[in-house]
Amino acid sequence: MVRTAVLVSGGGSNLQAIIDARIFGEVKNCELAAVISSNPDAYALQRAEFAGIPAYIIDRKIFANRASFSEAVHKKLEDLDIELAVLAGFMYILDPPLIRAYRNRVINIHPALIPSFSGPGCYGIHVHEAALEYGVKVTGATAHFCVSEADAGPIILQKAVEVREDDTPLSLQRRVMEEAEWKILPAAVSLYCEGRLEIDGKIVRIKGARSDVERGRSDSEPQ
Ligand code: GAR
Repeated sequence: MVRTAVLVSGGGSNLQAIIDARIFGEVKNCELAAVISSNPDAYALQRAEFAGIPAYIIDRKIFANRASFSEAVHKKLEDLDIELAVLAGFMYILDPPLIRAYRNRVINIHPALIPSFSGPGCYGIHVHEAALEYGVKVTGATAHFCVSEADAGPIILQKAVEVREDDTPLSLQRRVMEEAEWKILPAAVSLYCEGRLEIDGKIVRIKGARSDVERGRSDSEPQ
C-alpha cells in the first residue's frame, strides 16, 4: 500500500472524491495516511475527521515566507513516511527542495486543460474567470506531477468539459469539478499506487489503460 498524504487548503471536494473512490474500490493500493491543511478553518479537515484520516494543520499564515512553509510541509511528509503527496485544492506552490526530494511523487489537480489557464496566479475561481473572459468553448481539468515551475510537470490525465453560453465562473467551476476533477484525480492516484505510470521526461504513459478516463475519452465519445 502506498502511504499517501492529501494536501488541502479549502473545501476538500477533491479529497472527498479520493476518499469515496477508495471506498468503492476505484482507488487501489492506496493508504490515506494523512491530510495536511494549510488553513486551520478548511472544511477539508472535517471531511478527514469523518473519514477517520489523521489530519495535520500547517498554517501558511504563521510562516514568514514560502520557503519556511514548504520546509515544514517537507518535514511533515518525511516524519509521516509519506511516499505520495496529492495536492487537492492546495493553494501554494512548494519549493524546489521538496519537489526535488519528491520527484514524480507529488500529484496536483488543476482546473483547466494545461497549458491553458495555468501558471502563477492561475488557481481556483480565477481559472474559470479567465476561461470565460477568453471565450473558450472547451475547458477541463488536468492531473499532473509537480515540478518547480507551477503547473508545468508531466501530465497524467486530462478531461475536457464543455463551456456553456450562460456559464458563470461558479457554474463552470462546479461542472469542471463534477465532470472532470473528481474523476481524473482519483484515477491518477490509483494509477500511481498501482505502479501503472511510466514517466519518460515530460511524457507519462499508462500501462494497460482500461477505462475511458484512463484513455482520455469523454463520456459521449463512441467506443
Ligand atoms: C479545485 O477546483 C482545484 O482544482 C483547484 O481549487 C479547487 C479546490 O476545490 N486547485 C487549484 O486551482 C490549484 N492550482 P476543493 O478544495 O473542493 O477540492
